[in-house]
Amino acid sequence: MMGRNWVLVSGAVAVFIISGIVVNGARARGGATQGTTVGPKTAVQQFKNIQVLKDIPADQLIPAMQFISASLGVECEFCHVEGAFEKDDKKPKQTARVMVGMMFTINQDNFRRAARSDVLFLPPG
Ligand code: HEC
Repeated sequence: MMGRNWVLVSGAVAVFIISGIVVNGARARGGATQGTTVGPKTAVQQFKNIQVLKDIPADQLIPAMQFISASLGVECEFCHVEGAFEKDDKKPKQTARVMVGMMFTINQDNFRRAARSDVLFLPPG
């Protein structure tokens, strides 16, 4: 039972990470390299216990959470202690974090490659 659920979870989390959110994270990083500290707050600055989705804009975190919940067809409480989202007491949250982390690492590697090719096309100065 649990095993099959987790195959589903990992599939949905993978889809979620590949779509959208990582692109947003990359955009946030891109902004930072343009030499300005003005920009959207990142999730790690706004929330208490962010270990993986640190670089995404803070205002993307809740939509991302809603997307995960909708994808899995579960409530926030599937992963979270009600009223204490920062707590890691629930096993599904820990498992989800590990999977999000793996996908995030893979995508960051892809983006590093993409970013390098962008540099070639930057105008001088
Ligand atoms: C499949 C599991 C899962 C579901 C369902 C889920 N979350 Fe999360 N949530 C996580 C994980 C994992 C993190 C930590 C992310 C990290 O470490 O980068 C997190 C972090 C958060 C945080 C940041 C807490 C802090 O202060 O550190 C908030 C707020 C949050 N979730 C809200 C929600 C809401 C609202 C919902 C329902 C719409 C929801 N989550 C559904 C897994 C889940």
